[in-house]
Amino acid sequence: MSLPDTTPVSRLSGTSAVVTGASRGFGRATAAALVQAGATVAGIARSGSQLAELREQLGPRFVPVVADAADPVSAAQLLDQFRPAILVLNAGASPLTRPLHRHTWESFSRNWAVDVQQVFHWTREALLAPLDPGSVVVAFSSGAARFGSPLSGGYAGAKATIRFMAAYAAGESERAGLGIRFTAVLPDLTPATGLGAAAVAAYAAREGMDIPSFLATRGPSLTSEQAGKAVLDLAVGTGNGAYLLAAAGLKELQ
Ligand SMILES: NC(=O)c1ccc[n+]([C@@H]2O[C@H](COP(=O)([O-])OP(=O)(O)OC[C@H]3O[C@@H](n4cnc5c(N)ncnc54)[C@H](OP(=O)(O)O)[C@@H]3O)[C@@H](O)[C@H]2O)c1
Repeated sequence: MSLPDTTPVSRLSGTSAVVTGASRGFGRATAAALVQAGATVAGIARSGSQLAELREQLGPRFVPVVADAADPVSAAQLLDQFRPAILVLNAGASPLTRPLHRHTWESFSRNWAVDVQQVFHWTREALLAPLDPGSVVVAFSSGAARFGSPLSGGYAGAKATIRFMAAYAAGESERAGLGIRFTAVLPDLTPATGLGAAAVAAYAAREGMDIPSFLATRGPSLTSEQAGKAVLDLAVGTGNGAYLLAAAGLKELQ
């Protein structure tokens, strides 16, 4: 289903955005929220078929780009090509859900190789380009960054580093007077996406619970649509900083 041409002119009309990891989950919902708000969105993922399907759904203001978001050359080329006013660094690897001693170094460090490396390259390029004043970079950290995730190898540490990187970049932007905002979002674990569903299943099994019983201990689950709307709110807002994201909404971390 394509969006009708009669979509009302809205607040992001004429705005260029890039969303990494746009083919599924939070990234897909974020791309949809930004397109519906009027932006033209380049959506990046490695799977062309899922991006093509999203293009069918969202219409020509969604531009599919098959690329590895953690590749430094792709980051540099795509940032130059699209010059986004809104850059959402959402792509993330699904961690292998095993306790620490059942990881290899390669599986333990996977989210460093993908998630952290991606944020490093794109953040660096955003500062060096630099993006235009008023631009915003939203990087996906995780609620796991606060208390750890013992079945996900180096995931929580990687996501904590992403939160630090957004704060470091915000500081550099301010020091150089660039006017680029950098913010980190820390979503709650949710079964709404492939990545989250695998983690929920692993933690439920660890507790000897079935999935519904495990989820009942945690309160309402965040949906992908809520995540997309939250990123839109951050993009049109004015803040730097880091935000917890739950079904109840965004909450700024001090
Ligand atoms: N779901 C949760 O409970 C939860 C909680 C806290 C934080 N997060 C974070 O939220 C973000 C989105 O997660 P999700 O749950 O929506 O995951 P998901 O459903 O597994 O989607 C991940 C997306 O990232 C893309 N991707 C992965 N590696 C990539 C790469 N190297 N280059 C380009 N694209 C890549 C995937 O597409 P391809 O495989 O086609 O490339 C897919 O579009 C992640 O950073 C995750 O850590 C999720």
